Amino acid sequence: MRKKWLFILTMVMLISVLVLSACGGNQSNNTAPTTDGGDKPKEEVKPTDDGKTYLFKAGHSLTEDHPYQLALVQFAKAVEDRTNGKVKFEIYPLSQLGAERELTEALTLGTADMSISSTGPISNFYPQMGVVDLPFLFESREQAYKVLDGEVGQELLKGLESVGIVGLAWAENGFRHITNSKRPIQTPADLKDLKIRTMENPVHMAAFEALGAKPTPMAWTEALTALQQGVVDAQENPAIVADKYKLYEANQKFMTLTGHVYSPAIMMFSKAVFDTLPNEYQQIIREEAKKAGDYERELIAKMEQDSLNVLKEKGVQIIENVDKKPFRDAIKPVYEKYGKQFGEDLIDKIINTK
Ligand code: PAF
Repeated sequence: MRKKWLFILTMVMLISVLVLSACGGNQSNNTAPTTDGGDKPKEEVKPTDDGKTYLFKAGHSLTEDHPYQLALVQFAKAVEDRTNGKVKFEIYPLSQLGAERELTEALTLGTADMSISSTGPISNFYPQMGVVDLPFLFESREQAYKVLDGEVGQELLKGLESVGIVGLAWAENGFRHITNSKRPIQTPADLKDLKIRTMENPVHMAAFEALGAKPTPMAWTEALTALQQGVVDAQENPAIVADKYKLYEANQKFMTLTGHVYSPAIMMFSKAVFDTLPNEYQQIIREEAKKAGDYERELIAKMEQDSLNVLKEKGVQIIENVDKKPFRDAIKPVYEKYGKQFGEDLIDKIINTK
């Protein structure tokens, strides 16, 4: 009898030990280790591997051999590798997902995922971005990189969130030059009454009006036909764009190296879409966009001279060593007007960055 009681007692103790240790295990699974040793609830961090795979579309307006595309290809590969194939991108060149303005709008609405775009049309949604489109604001690439990679540029990227866009990284479209079908442009007087296609950007339009031209804003998707059909005589874009789009076949016989606007580009994501991603994937996308943006800038700088050579070979007369002073002087009223909107201090800060 005593033996039987001893056996029952041992069994009860054994079961109690097992039950208690099982409870202890559950408890540690439910709380995160904290630095102060307490058992605080975990902060809301979306898990990395949520079991889902993501397929996004990234669009832009240029050709398959343009640095916009090459940078997106590098970006997409790196993100796919680092997320073990969980985040993938399809890339659509040639405005297949819409021209820059349309696509930017779609990002704000959450109906498109990602794009790389010149800043030109972005100020229609986030007006402060227009400050970087002021003519003759940046003297050199180096100055532009310092400003855009510094406080001013980072604030502008952050500001995009207010219109539903995640500004991932700066890239580059390049220094804009004027091409036209009529005559070599040496001074602002040569621009008189020239019908010039501009981007849908109020600062650019004001600048060409001040220079005596007749600006006609339109999407890039319409510009080529407008040039071919003589609806406009001129356009302005970096040499790489003129080369890749064969503007010499669209009556553009002259290119003047005014470099009147340093045209930055931005790699952007729709905030509504970006917010659906786990935090770690978001971080990977941000890091890889920064690398791709830097790579894109390098490619633009390298390819620019090659494009100028192609244009020359195709018979385009390149007008070099233009005196920029009369152009700068003519657009002073634009600075007066937009100084108030963007803030004179901000403009001075950019101009004085060396
Ligand atoms: O002129 C434009 O619209 C832009 O510079 C372009 C060609 C779409 C590249 O961003």
